Amino acid sequence: MLDKVKKKFVPYPKGREVKDDSVSEIKNLIAHLSLKRDLLIEYLHLIQDKYRCISKSNLAALSDIMKIPFSEAFEVATFYAHFDVVDDSQASPPDITIRVCDSLTCELSGSELIINDLKKKYDKNTVRILRAPCMGLCDHAPACEVGHNHLKKCTLASIDKAVQEKSVHSSIVDGITFNEYKANGGYQLLKNCYGGKISVDKIIEELQKSGLKGMGGAGFPAGKKWEFVRMEKSPRLMTINGDEGEPGTFKDKYYLEKDIHRFFEGMLIAAWAVDSRDVYIYMRDEYPGILKKIFREIDVLEKEIIKDRVKIHVRRGAGAYICGEESAMIESIEGKRGLPRHKPPFVSKVGLFGKPTLNHNVETVFWVRDIIEKGYEWFSNQGKPGHKGPHSYSVSGRVKNPGVKFAPAGTTVNELINNYCGGMLDGHKFYGYLPGGASGGILPSTMGDIPLDFGTLEEYGCFIGSGAIVVFSDKDDITKVVLNLLKFFEDESCGQCTPCRVGTEKAVKLLEKKNWDKNLLDELVTMMGDASICGLGQAAGNPIKCAIKYFGSDLK
Ligand SMILES: Cc1cc2nc3c(=O)[nH]c(=O)nc-3n(C[C@H](O)[C@H](O)[C@H](O)COP(=O)(O)O)c2cc1C
Ligand code: SF4
Ligand code: FES
Repeated sequence: MLDKVKKKFVPYPKGREVKDDSVSEIKNLIAHLSLKRDLLIEYLHLIQDKYRCISKSNLAALSDIMKIPFSEAFEVATFYAHFDVVDDSQASPPDITIRVCDSLTCELSGSELIINDLKKKYDKNTVRILRAPCMGLCDHAPACEVGHNHLKKCTLASIDKAVQEKSVHSSIVDGITFNEYKANGGYQLLKNCYGGKISVDKIIEELQKSGLKGMGGAGFPAGKKWEFVRMEKSPRLMTINGDEGEPGTFKDKYYLEKDIHRFFEGMLIAAWAVDSRDVYIYMRDEYPGILKKIFREIDVLEKEIIKDRVKIHVRRGAGAYICGEESAMIESIEGKRGLPRHKPPFVSKVGLFGKPTLNHNVETVFWVRDIIEKGYEWFSNQGKPGHKGPHSYSVSGRVKNPGVKFAPAGTTVNELINNYCGGMLDGHKFYGYLPGGASGGILPSTMGDIPLDFGTLEEYGCFIGSGAIVVFSDKDDITKVVLNLLKFFEDESCGQCTPCRVGTEKAVKLLEKKNWDKNLLDELVTMMGDASICGLGQAAGNPIKCAIKYFGSDLK
């Protein structure tokens, strides 16, 4: 029967034409990597890095090589802000791209003016000016990136100097070296683990007693998580979340720059504890110097310490905040769009490639070695009464000395400002603060004595998250602060669910009006909180709710 069906005559080839030249070019470009579906984003990076864009013919060639539909490659490439997908007839972007951070701390420090001045100064065919979200340099705001060269406290003059000198490459911040780390007892604990001198149960017990919680934002007890993953069938996997995209957060960057091997050792102990033979480090593309450093140090580590015991895979993010949400990160590691998954199942049961996965933030595993070597009390006793452990607060905004402040959990913002940051900037009076980055809500200065820790802020409609404390002053306009945060969520919503995709867009429109329609805003954010799939949409309304509740009389 089937062979009687006449094939329809097609007067032109169906689908996208694949050019032989492009296929051989792309084949050569990716030849040093194996051909695997989950490496799609890595291949896209190679194309973007070489041509400064991804032309449709190169994308078609890549999908042909990978034997995936063009539409699949297209939807992945266009999801990520760091890929420029262009028509073949379009010119590639200019040699130099300047990304200016427009997230809250940088906006408070004048980034808007810089963006406007740069747009006037450069011809857009020679230098491309883009807005970008937080790049982890909030303690040196305003920040920008010329190519991959990060400029701190940037000015028109410092940016122009970098442009004229074509100074566009990232640099590595050298912290404690492998030899120094090893000379101070580094990797001995890992060797004891590998050699059976210490048991997994003992390590988990110490972690539980120490009170170590997940420092990525959710604050889930680390030891408990290891136990849950160990209950699942092998093979198990481990992932490290190095996405650090929450505006105002820069503590992971700080620890990776300062003492990267302490992070590696904690990560490898965790992988050993759950018997994971593959560890995936997902590192944000906004930290190119750290990426270089990770590759350099893993080389040494593989030769000197881990040999063939574990394979470490490094995956480069591509400019999507949502990929910090762990299930979205896992999708991204699998080479897909970073769309958060419905939960349950949690990633500890069904994670990367469908396997049980132990996922941790960079800082969480950073503390593992010290807790085991120095004893759980060393960690737990560092909290204020009623609080366990230290906290790494990333403090930025209108204070004299911003930076990562290592302080007892339960420290208040008044203490951070006065005892750790040298007070407010001259001429600025403390007015309010974000206790947990863009999503953690906003509080007024009159509520500056609340202990900052997991679980202490929820009753006020806030949370500590990753510990990003942004301080603003009487010189700042609360309506602009809220608008800035909501624009961030609008840009970064993955678009998968309507309450968040449409809700963030509508919220921005309502916030742009002079007199806020508070009832409508309240209805909108309640719906977003109730019906969004993931934490982004659920928490995006927090700044609005807090502004109405605590700053009502100041709203213009
Ligand atoms: C929108 C969103 C963004 C997130 N971004 C990050 C991030 O950049 N880094 C991170 O470690 N965790 C982030 N998280 C939390 C992760 O989903 C997850 O809880 C964390 O990586 C677990 O590691 P931990 O237990 O060591 O904290 C984010 C969560 C949400 C909802
Ligand atoms: S809440 Fe927002 S970011 Fe999260 S899945 Fe829905 S659309 Fe995506
Ligand atoms: S670097 Fe600009 S807000 Fe963080």
